[in-house]
Amino acid sequence: MYSNFSDRKRSIIYLPETESTNNDLKSLIRSEDTPVFSVISAKKQISGRGRLGRTFISPEGGLYFSMSYPLNGNEKNIPYLTLLAGLSVSCALEEVSGIKTEIKWPNDIYLGGKKLGGILTELVSGKNLCAAVGIGINMSAKKEDFPEELSGIVTSLFMEGIVPPHGNLVIEKTAEILDGFVYGACELYEACPSTVEAIKSRSFSLGKKVKYTLGDTVFEGKVSDILNTGAAVITLSDGSVKEIFCGEITQ
Ligand code: BTN
Repeated sequence: MYSNFSDRKRSIIYLPETESTNNDLKSLIRSEDTPVFSVISAKKQISGRGRLGRTFISPEGGLYFSMSYPLNGNEKNIPYLTLLAGLSVSCALEEVSGIKTEIKWPNDIYLGGKKLGGILTELVSGKNLCAAVGIGINMSAKKEDFPEELSGIVTSLFMEGIVPPHGNLVIEKTAEILDGFVYGACELYEACPSTVEAIKSRSFSLGKKVKYTLGDTVFEGKVSDILNTGAAVITLSDGSVKEIFCGEITQ
């Protein structure tokens, strides 16, 4: 089943503006009888969404796209798909433009210690179970496009003095790399050690002291490993370890 997708070309839909490409993709998946293998991209989002119910500020000039990943119904490794997407974006930016980014566990793309983009992975149970992987990258946004409280926390290629590459090249390259992981190497079913190493080598989080928050749970420690399940391992000061799958870490 999976090799069928590695051979197929994705349909890419380009929109001038939308509420959220993840919402559009989810509607498309739910409306179709057959597995959807598409990309929906938009030049601007009115209601871009981030993880944990947050807004993803999406002015004109950024890159906003969502890719569908038809699944076979028994995947347990969706957190790992988000890490694979982060690795794919990071590799695509480097291949297309030589830009070196890092992956902040679990879903952020970092450049120069600031957030350049993020990934929102959602499961969609239409007639065929799919993952919708939504990717947002700040390309030509200016400081004034973001609220004051995000100053020093988010950035864009423009703000870092980098001429943004053509967005469609980044979309196509990211899709090619991520499709290769998911359907070519079947990484979702058995993670390759070399891919996990590649994720770790681009990790912004590994080895850093962090504070972990999920609801009322808060603890501090050091990120000591990233696993092929998508989990981060945090070693606390008493030497005990915690595996975390969701929530947020702050440096
Ligand atoms: C995050 O930073 O928490 C994740 C941000 C994900 C943003 C992308 S932009 C394309 C897709 N559509 C959305 O509404 N969100 C994702």
